[in-house]
Amino acid sequence: MKIKAATGLYGIIGRPVRHSLSPAMHNAAFQAMDMDAVYLAFDVDVAEKAIDAARTLGIKGLSVTVPHKQAVMACLDEIDKTARAIGAVNTVKNLEDGRLSGINTDWKGAMKALKAVTDIAGRKAVVLGAGGSARAVIFGLKQGGAIVHVANRTIEKAERLAAEFKCTFSNLKDIPEAGADILINTTSVGMGKMAGLSPVEPHVTGWFKVVMDIVYGRTPTRLLQDAQKQGCTIIEGYNMLLYQAVAQFEYWTGMNAPTKIMKQALFQEIRG
Ligand code: ATR
Repeated sequence: MKIKAATGLYGIIGRPVRHSLSPAMHNAAFQAMDMDAVYLAFDVDVAEKAIDAARTLGIKGLSVTVPHKQAVMACLDEIDKTARAIGAVNTVKNLEDGRLSGINTDWKGAMKALKAVTDIAGRKAVVLGAGGSARAVIFGLKQGGAIVHVANRTIEKAERLAAEFKCTFSNLKDIPEAGADILINTTSVGMGKMAGLSPVEPHVTGWFKVVMDIVYGRTPTRLLQDAQKQGCTIIEGYNMLLYQAVAQFEYWTGMNAPTKIMKQALFQEIRG
């Protein structure tokens, strides 16, 4: 593409961010839609300074990732209701009047991935983990009418989330067996140094019809491999990543995102 004086700038702020797959997806989308825009990754220490820079430079939109999803909230002019309820913003848009608006597309991404294979309303779902990702997933599940149980290594965190989102809770080792439909891993087990590990014993996956992991890689995680052996329908982590980016593109541009192109770009990065 030809970069010109009028080319719009978008980007992602986070740390670490150099391995982010978002530039591949969003630049592919801009090109496919013939948009005069480019998307870069910014390794940022302090969220507030990046938001100031976005105002000064007229950056049109930002993705926000770890560890800035909470910190950016204090720097924006408006935040939508759902992002407030989740307690995290992963998408910022520079509105035409120069105000910066924040939303959360993580929960939308997770639910779109899930709804591609199962209904949510009235279904029993168990969420593993009680961090920021768990909050987005639990919010989406509750919004869709699911009955949610949260299980976490540190039980106090599960208890706090359960009180806030009105669900049941337990330790990771005491997941209830009875009649559950959906299992979603939001812990970091399976990622980085914990690659090849699963947050639960293999037989636990057999209690569920659908097992989703938000951890992604070249191949399905250990959790998903175990689930496949038990005959479950599995949803790989890249789905949430793709659909949260699709929702970002649509929020920034007001157009339908070229989902297939974004998926191809993502796959090329993940699987080479
Ligand atoms: P994120 O924002 O991606 O959700 P986070 O807020 O750091 O990240 O949360 C990480 C989650 O992974 C937590 O639920 C954490 O459990 P604790 O609350 O007990 O720390 C979970 N986690 C990380 N390492 C784990 C491990 N080895 N075994 C089980 N759970 C683990």
